[in-house]
Amino acid sequence: MTIDDIEGRTWRRACALDAVPEDEGLRLGTLPPVAVFVQDEEVFCLDDTCTHDTYSLAEGWVEDGAVECTLHLAKFDLRTGMPLRPPASVPVAVHPVKVVDGDVYVALPNAYLTKE
Ligand code: FES
Repeated sequence: MTIDDIEGRTWRRACALDAVPEDEGLRLGTLPPVAVFVQDEEVFCLDDTCTHDTYSLAEGWVEDGAVECTLHLAKFDLRTGMPLRPPASVPVAVHPVKVVDGDVYVALPNAYLTKE
C-alpha cells in the first residue's frame, strides 16, 4: 500500500495502532504537539493543545466523535477540529491519518518539527 503525497505535508509514522488506547489519546513528540485518537476503530490526528488555555487534549475524554478537554470541558470534533462546546471558540488543526500494516501514519505540515 502506498501513501499519497499531500502538498505542504509529509507523512510520518506516528505509532503502532495498538499503542493508542481505544477512546483515549496518544500525544506525539512533535512541535507543536499532535495527538492520535482512536474511537470505534477510526483513527484521528489533531493538534494536541486545547485552543482555550494550552492544555493537552490527549489527556481528555473521547466519546461520540469528540474529545473533551479535562481542564475546562471544552469539546472538539475529532473529524473537523471545530469547537463543539465553550469555553473554546477556536478550532484545533486536524491532520490526515492512514493505517498501514498496523502502523499509524500522519501527514503533518512541513513546518511541524519531529524527532527523527
Ligand atoms: S484549557 Fe481546554 S477548555 Fe480550558
